[in-house]
Amino acid sequence: MILIGLTELPGKTKDENDPMIKQDVKKIGLLTGGGDCPGLNAVIRAVVKAAILQHGWKVIGIEDGFGGLLTHGKTRPLLFEHVKGILDKGGTILGSCNRTNPFEYKFKTNGKVITEDRSPIVIEMLKELEIDALIVIGGDGTLSIAHKLSKMGVPVVGVPKTIDNDLASTDITFGFDTAINTATEAIDKIRTTGESHHRVMVVEVMGRYAGWIALQAGVAGGADIILIPEIPFSLEKVFHVIKERSKTGKHDSIIVVAEGARPKDGDRFVKRIVEESPDSIRLGGIGEMLANRISDELEIESRETVLGHIQRGGTPSAFDRILSTRLGVGAVNLISEGNFGKMVCLKTPRIEAVPLGDAVKQLKKVSLDLDIVQAARAIGVNFGD
Ligand code: F6P
Repeated sequence: MILIGLTELPGKTKDENDPMIKQDVKKIGLLTGGGDCPGLNAVIRAVVKAAILQHGWKVIGIEDGFGGLLTHGKTRPLLFEHVKGILDKGGTILGSCNRTNPFEYKFKTNGKVITEDRSPIVIEMLKELEIDALIVIGGDGTLSIAHKLSKMGVPVVGVPKTIDNDLASTDITFGFDTAINTATEAIDKIRTTGESHHRVMVVEVMGRYAGWIALQAGVAGGADIILIPEIPFSLEKVFHVIKERSKTGKHDSIIVVAEGARPKDGDRFVKRIVEESPDSIRLGGIGEMLANRISDELEIESRETVLGHIQRGGTPSAFDRILSTRLGVGAVNLISEGNFGKMVCLKTPRIEAVPLGDAVKQLKKVSLDLDIVQAARAIGVNFGD
């Protein structure tokens, strides 16, 4: 087992009478990995401020996710002046990457993709930088890497993020609230043009494995049909719902579809393969397929809009800024307690901690008995089933 800085084993809770742990931490590292989302900068700001104000620690920002620990010169000190004015900024001032898994580092030589374990470099780099504890802000993929490092003895604390809201062990991830607000605003706009032209408007939103964005933005935006990965849909059913609406004079309809939704007898729609990425599949195309099929089969005009990365950008909502701040401070608290190998999480109304291993064991999917699903059905929303 390799230990860096601290002499405590990961996951061990601090002994209140042991002053050693607090004294040992002098410098912490911080990185953001995976797809970006609104609220990352608010976490960075909270960590830097709490680390300096509460503990007098130095904070080192690591650039572009774990990639910054594989290359010299991709780290920089973070002081108050660096986090001034970033609370309301989308993205991450540190940069992010959803391709760099040090345990399965992929690169191309002579057209071939080679996979190598570069985790020893990460550990060496942490030693060289004299980082006593590492805060990793990320989704499922990034936190799985953090978990592996933790098992090797690196004192790590995780902070959950993803607009998809598909991480288990936390009530909600920051970024999600902003994303559903963005998607809802888009649906509101798309509705008016759909009404003017008596068209079926299909809005494709993100959500690879879980339909949280489609479900919540769909309900908030008054969708008539919501299609999510958790409920494989029947095209015939979709056609039927649109025809029935037409018969009662409602010639326009709104369909909100998650990129990861699939027909009962078909597969997900893959747009491209990013070979160097740990989760190499990039989805897309289901919205276009639906709009084309509706136009062809029903002779009703249909148009698709793919919201794409617009959902990951922009000013974080007040809810996300507050959650990010609480989680950032929570992560600093875990380090000060020597409570490593954990992920901070929201268990309403408190910020708590769960073992990283539990946090990445499974994804949080939409369960069909949720009251929001039942409420949607009760007001006539169809899920294509
Ligand atoms: O996991 C977050 C997410 O935004 C997914 O919803 C989406 O499928 C994916 O990332 C897009 O990844 P990229 O930014 O590589 O296109």
